[in-house]
Amino acid sequence: MKKKIKTLFGDPEKVNVLVLGSGGREHCLVEALSKSRVTAGLHCAPGNPGIAGIASVHDIDIRYRRSVKNLCAALEIEFVVVGPEAPLADGVADELRANGIRVFGPGAEGARLESSKAFAKLFMRRHDIPTSPFDICASVEECRAALMTRTPPYVIKADGLASGKGVFLPDDIEEALSICDELMRGEKLGVAGKKIVIEDFSPGKELTVLAITDGSAYRLLEPSRDHKRAFDGDRGSNTGGMGAYAPVTLPPGVMDMARDRVLVPTLGGLKMEGIDFRGVLYMGLMLDEAGGSPSVSVVEYNVRFGDPETQAVVPLYGGDLGEAMLAAADGRLGECEAAHSSGCSLCVVMASGGYPGAFRRGFPISGLDKGLPGVHVYHGGTGYGHKRNAAGEKGKREILTAGGRVLSVVGTGDTFAEAKERAYAMTGAISFEGAHYRKDIGWSED
Ligand code: GLY
Repeated sequence: MKKKIKTLFGDPEKVNVLVLGSGGREHCLVEALSKSRVTAGLHCAPGNPGIAGIASVHDIDIRYRRSVKNLCAALEIEFVVVGPEAPLADGVADELRANGIRVFGPGAEGARLESSKAFAKLFMRRHDIPTSPFDICASVEECRAALMTRTPPYVIKADGLASGKGVFLPDDIEEALSICDELMRGEKLGVAGKKIVIEDFSPGKELTVLAITDGSAYRLLEPSRDHKRAFDGDRGSNTGGMGAYAPVTLPPGVMDMARDRVLVPTLGGLKMEGIDFRGVLYMGLMLDEAGGSPSVSVVEYNVRFGDPETQAVVPLYGGDLGEAMLAAADGRLGECEAAHSSGCSLCVVMASGGYPGAFRRGFPISGLDKGLPGVHVYHGGTGYGHKRNAAGEKGKREILTAGGRVLSVVGTGDTFAEAKERAYAMTGAISFEGAHYRKDIGWSED
């Protein structure tokens, strides 16, 4: 491993960076790191064709800690930014730290805030953090008892990681029981559903607040709002996220509440329980404005940047994100100058036809090279293929659809209207067979 060298005259140290992941979120983080004063070499594993334009990509399976460790050794990586939750839950950060590598992302203990809904709810109860009343159930009989004390819609959450598919909101008690039964038998989500959290339904509007932290100091990013349903008007199935915007216009005092009632007690609780948390804390909040005085409660924690919230929030960040993430990894975020975000952004996810259900891959994408001011296009589900001529011979390499959420198209501007106009001008310029996207992202700001 290379020795760390602090340069004279206050120039920041430069490090070889590896980002783990392959989605729009990681493309956005890699873009921010490509502009950072702390970045020397920039790598991503496995990455995607968009990321390959600004970093070296390495096709390894990041589910295997040993593969990640070996890649770090081969590339002399000094700093790793972990994008998705699964490697964090599996302890990739612990393994890398044990090998002297600095990591942005918590160890497996801290990742339990996301990888176990039951752990997160009990943590909130222990530390008096607002969240809806709940029961943790280990059998269908316990589920039945918990459901009988509640009214519809019933909120049923699988305990383990479920890639955004672990929350059910049935209106009917028989349907609720049948979901619990299927979860408990491992039919819906395997082991992730063997334990179930049943909680009271919280009315209100969802809100995402991200905080970069070293476990003590923190930097809050702009509040954002994800749009999880597949179709306009919040109809259709839940997805990984069809778009997001930032900042969300909030009643006065809401960000103070998020900080004082949620973030600060969460960091205090983690410290009290001996959990070293360095990375980003994603606070999925419910904002209830009923009765004239707003309140927030925690719907979920995540222990990594949100997708697609990151694509909306990071382009507005006025500071050096790489510097802040490295300082957080080193436990010295407090020394890093606080930066302000400015402007507005709106991210539209262009998805494959059929997503979030079954969809076909391999369609050429056109219009990616159309440069529009204030627009970022982040790749998610894209891959490479080759054009074929009439005789079926291989021609030029091209970019094809390769996943459900194909692209995150982000417009930024001084106003929300400008950001929206730019994002939708770009989605209109890009096409691939079957593409679908929501036309109403940011409707609550209109
Ligand atoms: N946008 C929701 C998530 O990242 O989990």
